[in-house]
Amino acid sequence: MTDTLAQGALPPKANFEKTIDGKKTDLYILKNAKGMEVAITNFGGRVVSILVPDKNGRLTDVVEGFDSVKGYQDAPGPYYGALIGRYGNRIAKGKFTLEGKEYSLYINNAPNTLHGGKVGFDSKVWDAKQIDSATLELNYLSKDMEEGYPGNLKATVIYTLTNDNGLKIDYTATTDKTTIVNLTNHTYFNLNGANGGTILDHKVQIFADEYTPIDPTSIPKGKNDPVKGTPFDFTQPAVIGSKIEDKNEQLTNGKGYDHNFVLNKPSLDSPVAIVVGDKSNIEMQIFTQEPGLQFYTGNFMNGQNTMKYGAKDNHRTAFAMETEHFPDSPNEPKFPSVVLKPGQVYKTTTEYKFSVAK
Ligand code: GLA
Repeated sequence: MTDTLAQGALPPKANFEKTIDGKKTDLYILKNAKGMEVAITNFGGRVVSILVPDKNGRLTDVVEGFDSVKGYQDAPGPYYGALIGRYGNRIAKGKFTLEGKEYSLYINNAPNTLHGGKVGFDSKVWDAKQIDSATLELNYLSKDMEEGYPGNLKATVIYTLTNDNGLKIDYTATTDKTTIVNLTNHTYFNLNGANGGTILDHKVQIFADEYTPIDPTSIPKGKNDPVKGTPFDFTQPAVIGSKIEDKNEQLTNGKGYDHNFVLNKPSLDSPVAIVVGDKSNIEMQIFTQEPGLQFYTGNFMNGQNTMKYGAKDNHRTAFAMETEHFPDSPNEPKFPSVVLKPGQVYKTTTEYKFSVAK
């Protein structure tokens, strides 16, 4: 099954038609007028495939993922393609205080909690409604105290494939008790195509003059540092692998790039980051309203999983760019707030837009 799928083909829908936790899962296909296609499953709201034309016009799948829902169930940890919640990224020691009350979360990334806890939004079955050929609506109700977070949180995520080859993700959420929320998507990209080798020769530009340095457990130290003169300077396009092995305390702490960049200007009109695949010339621009971008270079990928096209998830064969609020924000009063109160609406949009680089 896995190795018969030809690069650029979508996995069989039947591989996603299951019942998990009493709910139906499926594979939803979005198409646009340009021939681009995106496949998403409501198991964890995961982006399974994104087919875009490369420099020769050949449809190329730029997502590292599985060709069955079982693949995603069996490998929850790396969060392949998933929607992440209730809190994307880490919270130090799994503890935070809200309105004078301390809350404790599950420690799944010792000594911290990561990406929502034991069973985050990435492994929940979302209620799915395909609105039209290019739009999928997903809904999930996270009950009061699920994974230790207060308040019934109603989350809605709308994936839209635009006619200018953008995959737009609109997130909204409301709560009935004061809570914290930080939603993101954890797609692993290889712009040379899934099974396209390492991403070390991809070119990256991130419009961020500062980043949040981390301690050895990947928790920010509470102050921003300038990227200038460091391997974190992507203000001009730079090849990912050019400095990744530099002797640098921050690269050691992250085991490569696994850091939050403080975006100069979150925007839906001008990109916050641009990545180009060296072999395909496929360019991805990222637009977001979020203040931060976690750039992760697949440092924990270790070849344990066999994925679409027979690809092994080998070290650094994909990267993620998670748009979000900063890690450990609930414990860092100086960081932009992640608190959501009853009556407020959490609303944020991110778009990944594809083209062929000039
Ligand atoms: C995020 C984290 C990484 C890693 C991956 C999943 O990107 O920042 O440290 O946990 O998720 O493996």
